[in-house]
Amino acid sequence: MYIEKLKLTNFRNYESLDISFSDTLNIIYGNNGSGKSNIIEAIYLLALTKSFRTSSDVNLIKKGSSLAQIKGEIITNEKNRYQIDLSNEGKKVYINSDKVGKISDYVTNINIILFNPLDTKIINDAPSFRRKLLNIDISQGSKEYLLLLNSYDKLLKNRNAYLKQLYLNGNASKDYLDILTQKLVKIGKCINNYRREYIEKINKSIAKIYEDIFEYGELKVIYNSSFNDKSEEEILDNYQKKYYREMEMGKTLSGIHHDDIEFILDGNSIKDFGSVGQQKNAIIAFKLAQILIMKEIKGEYPILILDDLFSELDNQKINNIIKMLNKEVQTFITSTNIDNIDKMLLKNSNIYLVENNKIERVSN
Ligand SMILES: Nc1ncnc2c1ncn2[C@@H]1O[C@H](COP(=O)(O)OP(=O)(O)OP(=O)(O)O)[C@@H](O)[C@H]1O
Ligand SMILES: [Mg+2]
Repeated sequence: MYIEKLKLTNFRNYESLDISFSDTLNIIYGNNGSGKSNIIEAIYLLALTKSFRTSSDVNLIKKGSSLAQIKGEIITNEKNRYQIDLSNEGKKVYINSDKVGKISDYVTNINIILFNPLDTKIINDAPSFRRKLLNIDISQGSKEYLLLLNSYDKLLKNRNAYLKQLYLNGNASKDYLDILTQKLVKIGKCINNYRREYIEKINKSIAKIYEDIFEYGELKVIYNSSFNDKSEEEILDNYQKKYYREMEMGKTLSGIHHDDIEFILDGNSIKDFGSVGQQKNAIIAFKLAQILIMKEIKGEYPILILDDLFSELDNQKINNIIKMLNKEVQTFITSTNIDNIDKMLLKNSNIYLVENNKIERVSN
């Protein structure tokens, strides 16, 4: 799939922007702070309804305005128009001018994989960042997964609240806790299955991708979860054993909300043994492996966004990535300048200059 047209009104630094993109490689360049990432942020938002760098939508609305609008035309085997309106009153989303009530009905339509420099920290960050990496991607391919995650979060909150209540009031019934635990285990087990299968799929391609781009090393990913290889009965049994401790702590101590993934290069955990460069390379390979899975699930490649990739990798590695994508994936790369970019790569790209709160196509 690819985005053919993007229209912005009062989004970030753009009062009004209207641009068409190529279905292969698009290079967006301009000075620091000129508004390159804002454009790809708009594309990301159009797909997933959330930004990758702010949790507050108010920041997305151009200063001094009260309504921001993002519109885009997405081509698959048909053409569809998507729209997001942002205002102080919240967010409204539309497909072909029809308002979509549930976000879960909207977000599985446009698929996107984003790499941005902050992602290079994921391997060293808290596990929640790695779970987020998994969640965003699996839910783009499965609405069911997204709904399971929402249900799990609600159950977890209820269960934690009830644990606290039980601790304070010895007379409260434990039966209700058991019901919540059973539901939590059932849904958690489904999420665990999704995640396990997903990592199995990642491992089918990530080693070759890593080797093809970086020309050394064998990479794999391990999925760690207290639900792995256990039946629902065994898991329930574990909760029974720990329930008093959970009551004392006032929270659910185990479950898929503690899951994590680990990156292993040549037999060693990258988190503990890897260099900063290896951490970054592993994440890039992971993102590229995600593209193949999306293609397998959806029958179409997602849109790929590589923010500031030239500050992270040399020309040779970027060429290896572009060669791998084989003109089949619509790709956006941002860069502060194009002077050092490989000439062949530039020749095969559509190049856009961002300047004075405007974007302009400068080649092809
Ligand atoms: N809500 C907003 N209203 C107006 N301007 C905004 C808003 N939010 C951000 N900006 C402006 O957008 C600019 C940042 O844009 P962006 O992050 O896209 O830059 P960039 O070209 O990606 O830069 P870099 O090369 O440093 O990554 C800043 O100048 C900032 O002031
Ligand atoms: Mg930027």
